[in-house]
Amino acid sequence: MKLAIMESISSLEVVNRSASEIRPRGVIDTNDLAYPVSTSRKVAELIARYEDISDFIEVSFREMVNWLRGERATHYIHPYPAKLLPQIAHFFLADPTLFNPKGVILDPFCGSGTVALETVLSGRKAYWADVNPLARLITRVKTSHYDLSSVMDIHTAIKRRRVTGPEIVAPDVVNLTFWYTPSTIDALSRLKLAIEAEASAATRDWFMVALSATARLTSKADPRFPVPVKRKPGVVFKGKELVAEPDVYSIFDEQLFALLKRHQNFQSLVGRFPETYCVGNDARAIKNIDGEAFSDAAIPNDSVDGIITSPPYASAQKYIRSSSLSLGWLSLASTDELRLLNGRSIGRERFSKAHSDVLLATGIPAADRVINLVYETNRNRAAIASHYLLEMRDFLAEAARVLKPGAHMVIVVGNNQICGQAFETSEYLCSMATLFNLDLKLKLVDTIKGRGLLTKRHATAGVITHEWILLFRKRCLG
Ligand SMILES: C[S@@+](CC[C@H](N)C(=O)[O-])C[C@H]1O[C@@H](n2cnc3c(N)ncnc32)[C@H](O)[C@@H]1O
Repeated sequence: MKLAIMESISSLEVVNRSASEIRPRGVIDTNDLAYPVSTSRKVAELIARYEDISDFIEVSFREMVNWLRGERATHYIHPYPAKLLPQIAHFFLADPTLFNPKGVILDPFCGSGTVALETVLSGRKAYWADVNPLARLITRVKTSHYDLSSVMDIHTAIKRRRVTGPEIVAPDVVNLTFWYTPSTIDALSRLKLAIEAEASAATRDWFMVALSATARLTSKADPRFPVPVKRKPGVVFKGKELVAEPDVYSIFDEQLFALLKRHQNFQSLVGRFPETYCVGNDARAIKNIDGEAFSDAAIPNDSVDGIITSPPYASAQKYIRSSSLSLGWLSLASTDELRLLNGRSIGRERFSKAHSDVLLATGIPAADRVINLVYETNRNRAAIASHYLLEMRDFLAEAARVLKPGAHMVIVVGNNQICGQAFETSEYLCSMATLFNLDLKLKLVDTIKGRGLLTKRHATAGVITHEWILLFRKRCLG
């Protein structure tokens, strides 16, 4: 795909000299350059304007990063709720003065790995963490190198093995018979066994991502919504009508070939062996790397060159519930473990009556005023809000600990309503960040356009229509 860089973005520069020399001026081939444009001048311009007006600036990342359009690399290998717009991560990573071009970029709430993927495409080292094991699996597959010819040989072996054998036991999937027909349960179970038997340790995750996407598409859940809700007859998804008895094996094959195509594109763009590491399962406790896995030890202080992340919103998404079918099919979490994972998730909705009855102060006067008002009408909602902010404060403390002095952090959040009260998460996070020597350098606002986040999650919660992009810099002390 070739496209002209818009004239209006005069503060962006084409960085790859050889590429610009062999192409007509102002035309970029986005097929073979992962990071064709430097955004340094544009970022500096925005920071200067923010210093001048001390107020947020409205932007459109889609327009500011107009050289990224459509599919690229492995961004769409698996659905995930509330994905970050890749253009936001790309815009900041395309500034080598903001983030060391050879440095480590951490996303402690990695979700489906949008930041991690853009990080490795930009030639940096990606560190990522998430409480949801499915998120960690998708991120790993999205950002790792695979031997694609061996993957196709394994696929042939899986095909040969999957349809035979005696009756088998299905894995522990929540409400299995509610979500699947008996023949789909049988086919998915055989497919899983065949993958476990044929795929090597190096390629198993790759096949598991395709199995997970297949399990979601062959369930009775409506694939248009992140949380499983039973679909009505006649739902058309990606141009196809979903049927009561789906052909599990052909859907799996389609998923696999789509994955292969996306990986081919990723591997041609990434240019070298991607450096990608999981550094834990809690944004409040980032771990050190130990070979392929993460260790129990904390990552050293001042060791990360940058953070780019979109944390959960207060009560806006149910990540574990959205992933529950996949977590079961992939044996990443049993039905009992789902509750434990939910309990460790920031932004969760369930609190016991004993917890809800206690009115917690967050120490942020503006937030406490809202929480007190909410407490009078709905104690559970008040508990959701106060626990959310206190847990986000722990995350900010950890982020400030691991960042190198002078390094930057980008946080993307949304403001919503709780029981009719405006809950200004972005303002509260800015107040808390100052406690940890994180200085706000830039505040941008962009409109969310149909990215699975707009739906109201609760009758008392408002619709999130904008996201706030906050750029902080860790102060250099002493
Ligand atoms: C807004 S989503 C991130 C989406 C991601 N940027 C993407 O593009 O897919 C927030 C993520 O935070 C994760 N999360 C919630 N609590 C967490 C915690 N305590 N530690 C780490 N991750 C957590 C959720 O599982 C979810 O994946």
